[in-house]
Amino acid sequence: MKNLRRALLILLALSMLLTMVACGNNTPAASTAPEEKKDTPPAAEPKKEFLIGMSQCNLGEPWRVAMNDQIAAAAAQYPEFKVVFSDAAQDNSKQVADVENFIQQKVDLLIISPNEAKPLTAVVKKAYDAGIPVIVLDRKVEGDAYTSFIGGDNKLIGKKAGEYVAKVLGEKGGNVVEVKGLEGATPQQERHDGFLEGIASNPNVKIIASQNCDWLRDKAITVMEAMLQANKDIDVVYGHNDPAAEGAYIAAKNAGREKEMIYIGIDALPTPDGGIKSVMEGRISATYVYPTGGKDAIESAYRLLVKGETLEKNVTLGTIEVTKDNAAEIYKQFGGK
Ligand code: FRU
Repeated sequence: MKNLRRALLILLALSMLLTMVACGNNTPAASTAPEEKKDTPPAAEPKKEFLIGMSQCNLGEPWRVAMNDQIAAAAAQYPEFKVVFSDAAQDNSKQVADVENFIQQKVDLLIISPNEAKPLTAVVKKAYDAGIPVIVLDRKVEGDAYTSFIGGDNKLIGKKAGEYVAKVLGEKGGNVVEVKGLEGATPQQERHDGFLEGIASNPNVKIIASQNCDWLRDKAITVMEAMLQANKDIDVVYGHNDPAAEGAYIAAKNAGREKEMIYIGIDALPTPDGGIKSVMEGRISATYVYPTGGKDAIESAYRLLVKGETLEKNVTLGTIEVTKDNAAEIYKQFGGK
């Protein structure tokens, strides 16, 4: 009896097998395996959409608006990319929370331009350790827990600015006031160190005052007002960015002293209120192109996420010295309107 049942079962199985082969169907019958979901791609198919989190440290500055615009425009070229932006409004703890948020959302890649290096280092490492590729833009974090850093060479820019000042002041030398950026942001230190190197060839160039304006034009006005009060003899203002130089110019103009000194800035945005126009209009004497790296970041993201390439650990972007001799030409070259 037992043998008969077994024989019958074997016969049944054999006949089912024969039917499947005859129909040319080699998938298991619905009753023996769950049906594959039609909307689930086979595991080997590459991912088609990528969510990129962009953590901006402060959108209240024109240069950062330009950076976000360039990221958005570059990402629009790649239908597989969706970028979500956050703005920390110059608040380190807000930026930490923004990145935590992106980690929770499980973004496919993080781009961050950190407000200050030290307070942002741990959360950038947390994202990186969680397997999220991280592109750090313009300002650095500490250590090397990130995928790729893209930014200008701030030490070189500072050095060029110093050399320009040493040359313009000549052997007689003169007094420089420095309107610096934000204390814990790496470009601030690098722009200062580079400048010292640049003026080293001329011992008669002296920095007589130095103060942070946190990269902000309005704060630079206040800082410069105090410097003007305290110093009767100023030959050069070295602003760590164009808003710092412009702010200093406004303060000097308000005091009726704007013609006593020259103004140096950094950024050279090709916009009507940017540094190149300021050189063309005779307020700033020299500024230095400081690319935002926005487009480069998206191109790197594409190479990494879509093409599977390995990114360079450090990508250094170039600069150009802009003076009245080349300002109009550079403005046109960078698409200024
Ligand atoms: C904007 C900005 C730029 C400057 C850069 C340095 O926040 O201050 O003007 O070149 O950041 O990180």
